[in-house]
Amino acid sequence: MKIAMVGSGYVGLVSGACFADFGHDVVCIDKDQSKIDRLHDGIMPIYEPGLDALVDRNVKAGRLSFTTHLAEGIRDASAIFIAVGTPSRRGDGHADLSFVHAVAREIGENLANDAVVVTKSTVPVGTGDKVELILAESGTPHRVSVVSNPEFLREGAAIGDFKRPDRIVIGAEDDFGRDVMRQVYRPLFLNESPILFTARRSAEIIKYAANAFLATKITFINEISDLCEKVGGDVQDVARGIGLDGRIGKKFLHAGPGYGGSCFPKDTLALLKTAEDYESPLRIVEAVSMVNESRKRAMGRKVVEAMGGAEAARGKRVAMLGLTFKPNTDDMRDSPAIAIAQTLLDAGASVAAFDPEGMESARPLMPDVEMAGDPYAAINGADAVVIVTEWDAFRALDMDRVKTLAKVPVLVDLRNIYKPQEMREAGFHYVSVGRP
Ligand code: UDX
Repeated sequence: MKIAMVGSGYVGLVSGACFADFGHDVVCIDKDQSKIDRLHDGIMPIYEPGLDALVDRNVKAGRLSFTTHLAEGIRDASAIFIAVGTPSRRGDGHADLSFVHAVAREIGENLANDAVVVTKSTVPVGTGDKVELILAESGTPHRVSVVSNPEFLREGAAIGDFKRPDRIVIGAEDDFGRDVMRQVYRPLFLNESPILFTARRSAEIIKYAANAFLATKITFINEISDLCEKVGGDVQDVARGIGLDGRIGKKFLHAGPGYGGSCFPKDTLALLKTAEDYESPLRIVEAVSMVNESRKRAMGRKVVEAMGGAEAARGKRVAMLGLTFKPNTDDMRDSPAIAIAQTLLDAGASVAAFDPEGMESARPLMPDVEMAGDPYAAINGADAVVIVTEWDAFRALDMDRVKTLAKVPVLVDLRNIYKPQEMREAGFHYVSVGRP
């Protein structure tokens, strides 16, 4: 089967390469000539473990190609995916659908055969209807069915998530759409991955509801961790104790500096806008979004407190380990590191940071932060060390070296990757999240 993927960003490229690996003939399309040129040279536009090898293998097998020409790319494709960005619209937080609409228009104008048009981009409920309308207005004589097929890929684990999904959600309104999607996901059907067929609008809501629920779980445990600190509990024990209840589940109960990334912050906001438009309040999601936003700066204040308060922090140097919103990505979007660094700078401290993959994307976002060559260079002369992202590289730091290099042995571990007692015994003033 031939598949066209319009948009070769994170979701489009990972999905396209995985579909090719299933044996489909895939063309990834993008307007960005330099991105396509680099892909032709085997250079990935993003850092995602295993992606370069996957792309290379499928390009060599002749199943995966790249182009900037949409008309050419979609020719003969039975399924045309729309996987372009839906950023928060400046000013009002609504998802910006201009790219999705423009692509739908271009598909309509260039369609040369019957096809299923699939929205993979995260889009507010009703977008499928709008895409259908745009395609109809283009006057195409071909049969088109518009399907919603949201992605649930985690950055850093996207290929595994694609190939071994918890579920696949397909929102289709007719048999043509359902049949083509069955072919698209045939290898996963054979794998017995759960595939859920729903109405298109339900599929669109599932994506936002899933992300909002996960964001709620994280924010819930983050607030419980604050309470643990006040009353002397251990949030990790609490998370384990509640997570073993199958109705709650143990995943997404790690307390930390607040969620970031390309999905949760933007998708919760967009969902709230939809709720507002339809006068159907989502007060829980509203609270989650607000609590998470304020948490990031609160984590910066936590570091200031660990240094002895605002007076003591002025003029001091903080080493920040980890900048990306999570490990195994170079993605800095809405990373808590940005607000934490800003809070420290506002308090009059200086910040030296190291991140294994994120420093290039971090530089323009935090121009006043010094980027160090490795963790120890950041720690050299520091009055406090703060772990912001739980990269494996920070899990086994040489603590003797850290203590020798740091001016003061203050360690703020916002991801709870070290044990409080061990760190105290090693001579650190150790502060973590929600633990005594
Ligand atoms: C998320 C969803 O998991 C995925 O299904 C969706 O398609 C896109 O958004 P992603 O943003 O890549 O994926 O990262 P995820 O692993 O979900 O983490 C999101 C944020 O939550 C990170 O900042 C992470 O550090 C934080 N988090 C996650 C916690 O603080 N605690 C947890 O227990 C889990």
